[in-house]
Amino acid sequence: MGCQLNENDSEKLCGMLEKMGYDKTEDTKQADIVLFNTCCVRENAEDKLFGKLGELKKIKEEKGIIIAIGGCMMQEKHITDKIKESYPFVDILFGTHTLHRFPEDLYQALQEKRKQEDIIDIDGEIHEGLPIKRESSIKASVTIMNGCNNFCSYCIVPYVRGRERSRKPRAIIEEVKELAKQGYQEITLLGQNVNSYLRVEKEKQIPFEEYEGVNSFATLLRAINKIEGIQRIRFVSPHPKDFTDDVIQAIADCEKVCKLIHLPLQSGNTKVLKEMNRKYTKEQYLNLVEKMKNKIPNLTLSTDIIVGFPGETEEEFKDTLDVVEKVKFEQVYMFIYSRRIGTPGDKMENQIPEEIKHQRFNRLKALVESQIEENNQKYIGTTQKVLVEGESKNNSKMLTGRTDSNKVVIFEGPKEWIGTMQDLKIVSEHMWYLKGEK
Ligand code: 5AD
Ligand code: SF4
Repeated sequence: MGCQLNENDSEKLCGMLEKMGYDKTEDTKQADIVLFNTCCVRENAEDKLFGKLGELKKIKEEKGIIIAIGGCMMQEKHITDKIKESYPFVDILFGTHTLHRFPEDLYQALQEKRKQEDIIDIDGEIHEGLPIKRESSIKASVTIMNGCNNFCSYCIVPYVRGRERSRKPRAIIEEVKELAKQGYQEITLLGQNVNSYLRVEKEKQIPFEEYEGVNSFATLLRAINKIEGIQRIRFVSPHPKDFTDDVIQAIADCEKVCKLIHLPLQSGNTKVLKEMNRKYTKEQYLNLVEKMKNKIPNLTLSTDIIVGFPGETEEEFKDTLDVVEKVKFEQVYMFIYSRRIGTPGDKMENQIPEEIKHQRFNRLKALVESQIEENNQKYIGTTQKVLVEGESKNNSKMLTGRTDSNKVVIFEGPKEWIGTMQDLKIVSEHMWYLKGEK
């Protein structure tokens, strides 16, 4: 139900279940177990779970299926209290630090027919070697670090995912080599703050054993760039405050690292950024973008923006529009500020009325969409390298793939192209996708 880290955890849960002899179905009526991997980053993510639990009550009564809930929401006490009170038919609750124990929890629930609650508050260790059943055979996500130490004042993540800790270089490199062997073409490196990979370990002198020259995020990119078979490397999300020159240089030097960089802005106003505890100003963000554009040929950028943070004035919101106008992002993920219990933002007194938040969201959306239309025009007539991902969902006669800048391209071609890189000429644009031809 959440971000790519959450999806990567879901792939591990599926891997564990498969090893226990289960098969996957999307049809609840056929299921023996229903498993939710939840997200709590915004209120609407949480609402999704409660809607689904309501629907399941009847099936549970009729068939006695096992219902298990894991993930970020389970690290919030007010949520687990609510589930125990209002949805007492749920069998297993487990948190982000106890994912690896899910098979044991399930076994106990089945054997002892007792409810299981397996949630701990302390930062779990990183567990290597969990089985994994990946959704795609072309693109794979690899988690490089867990947790977050930044404490942006709107964000619940540091409370539910714990402190920052990095995986060992050897574990990551070996996982990517294995993926290359299996024929994976694209790797996405995941973490709440990928460009501070190994920072905490260095600060606290926790041994991490350098491997193939990897002792930082920049050297990790360089090492993965050398792995034969992998064609593309992406990463989410970096933090602008940690975007050091060595990382910029590594992106420029490594031909496999995609030149679309996701650089979360959150707000374009320096005062709001300070209240958000982002540790950069409007000018510092714009300077960073300028520096990156100068050093990285063909750079494109995407971003995350929150509108309606407590205290955000009309003038301050206009700074966000101003940065969007200046940077011309390839893609903007827009969010309405959502109060999260336990965060400093929730305690701020000057909350913005819903109506104003929605108005600002719609104004930002209109600007972003007009920029996307304009930007799409630039693709027409160009030739793009497209990694072919499969049949188009809406038209099985067409194939779908993505450019380096992560734009969807739809085109005709033989099925043998799936999993290969093709040079395609872009012939038309349709807002959320481009049409291509060989
Ligand atoms: N309200 C709205 N959006 C949020 N995000 C994180 N916390 C909140 C919140 N409380 C957004 C940020 C982040 C993205 C993953 O979700 O933009 O980058
Ligand atoms: Fe949601 Fe954040 Fe958890 Fe990802 S880490 S699932 S965005 S709460």
